[in-house]
Formats: sequence, structure tokens, C-alpha cells
Amino acid sequence: MPLHGLASVTIGVPDVEVTSAYYADFGLAPQPAGGWMSTTDGGHQLRLVHRPHRQLVELVVRASDRDDLARIAGRLARLDVPADGSQPDTLVAVAPAVGTRVVVRVLPPITPTVAPLPASNGPGRTERFNRRADAVLRSGAVQPRRLGHAVLGTTQLAVTKAFFVDGLGFKISDYISDRGVFLRCSADHHNLLLLAAPANFLHHTSWEVDDADEIGRGATAMLEDHPERHVWGLGRHHAGGNFFWYLRDPAGNFSEYFADMDANLDDQLWKPEVFEGREGLYDWGPPPPPSFLHPDDLADLMIGSHTAA
Ligand SMILES: [Fe+2]
Repeated sequence: MPLHGLASVTIGVPDVEVTSAYYADFGLAPQPAGGWMSTTDGGHQLRLVHRPHRQLVELVVRASDRDDLARIAGRLARLDVPADGSQPDTLVAVAPAVGTRVVVRVLPPITPTVAPLPASNGPGRTERFNRRADAVLRSGAVQPRRLGHAVLGTTQLAVTKAFFVDGLGFKISDYISDRGVFLRCSADHHNLLLLAAPANFLHHTSWEVDDADEIGRGATAMLEDHPERHVWGLGRHHAGGNFFWYLRDPAGNFSEYFADMDANLDDQLWKPEVFEGREGLYDWGPPPPPSFLHPDDLADLMIGSHTAA
């Protein structure tokens, strides 16, 4: 695939300092300059900047080479979307409706640190004996490996989808009825989910950790002194198949720990499905709270959307 994943997100928030402290607790490493925070494998992947309303300001997508940028520029032109290719190895366009600045940049692939599979026990299968489970002996703070995906609410689903699919070349992995579409630009089941919404807003960003135990350890640490951060988890999604736990940052954006997502979908073999009802949301876990589907600040964001428009 000419595109090979997300490089970074820039999130606008009213209080950068307070929100930075949240993401440091989440396990991202603050960098000395520019408001950047890092994952262990992906490097600088989150930047926080000041905005009056929370929003996804910028999304950087990794491309393989300059020819990819030229092809994308041609496709965007056919969609009548202006694109700026004046910077080297970079193409910049604004995603229609959502207003996010999308930067496609020639970048090397991320080399993941391999997470060893812990020995586990089950009926008729004993891999671990005379010692405690690896997971209960873990003591260090959880550190996300990399940025996995972002989820955007859009007031014009068809237009925003056309930009990412017909313009940038994202592939369709699955649908949530006629209200959402999972898109990928890497081996992951999804790197972007677009949801029809009454406002243009950032629903969540998602960060990969080694396994379900790291999700549990990370969320437990996040909630210890801040139970108000809890949103939804632990559970397992149907679309994408990943374990999840969602938490809320001080600006109202959700951040997700995820592990074990479906991967390497072959364009010839993978058949996108349309999920209705619960399968569009999850396989198992506690029921999602109403605020997951309709964030508490949605009315404020609608006013912000209209002001911006
Ligand atoms: Fe997610």
C-alpha cells in the first residue's frame, strides 16, 4: 500500500498544560519543544496546541515515495480539493467538512519492537508452571507503542469519505450501517473511522499497547486518582477485533488503549461487512455509556462547528 499508517495527530484543546499532564499519565513521553509527545515505537505522534474548542487540527499520514504524493494530488484535483505540494516530500490538503489539515508526507515505516507472547495456561494446556503470570509481575508504567487510529464525527460523511478514499487512497474495511465507515492506510483494520454526526469533532485517538493486560494496567493507573476519566472498557470490538478501554482527557476527547487488532487485510480476500446494532460497537464488555455515542459537549461542539463554518 502506498500509504503506510498515521504519523501523528495534532489536537487543539483549551488548556494545553492540563491536557499534556493527562497524556503523560496515559504513557506518552513529553518532548522538550513544540508541544510534542512520543510513543516508544512511533516517536513524535501527539502534539497539543491551543484552540478554544477541542478539535483535530492536523493528521499526518505516512507515504512511501514522491510518486504517491503526485498520484494523490491528481486525485484531489479531480475532487476539486486544493492541495499544496510546495514543501518537499509533503502534500497538504484540508479534509472537507471536518476541517482537519491532512498532511501526507514521505516517511520511513515504523519498526515495531516485538512484544513476546507470554506463556499462558488453559484447559489441557499448561505453558506456565511453578511461577506467577508475567502480567502480574509487570511493574513499569504502561507506554503506548504507537498511534493506531483516529475517529472523527463529520456533518458530511459522504464528502469526508470521498476525500480519504477517492483522494488519499484509504481502503474501506467495514461499515456501521450507513452511519460510519472504517478506513485503513496500513496493515491495521482501521486507521480512521468516520461517523455521521451533528458536529465535526474528534471522537477519539487510539494507542496500541502490547496486550489486554497492558490495557488493564494502563486504565487502572489512569483511574486510580481520577475515576472521572473512565468512559468505557474493558471490552472487545467486533469490527477490528481489538480489546479496548476508553478514557476521557480534560478537554473531552476520548483516548483508547487498544491491543490485538485485525491486520493485513488482503484487498482481494477481505470483504467489508455492514454492521448493525451491537456488532457495530462491540462484541463484549459493559454496555457503552450514552456519552460514548453522544459526548456531553456535543451541543457546544455544534455551536463551534457553525461558528467555524
Ligand atoms: Fe477506537
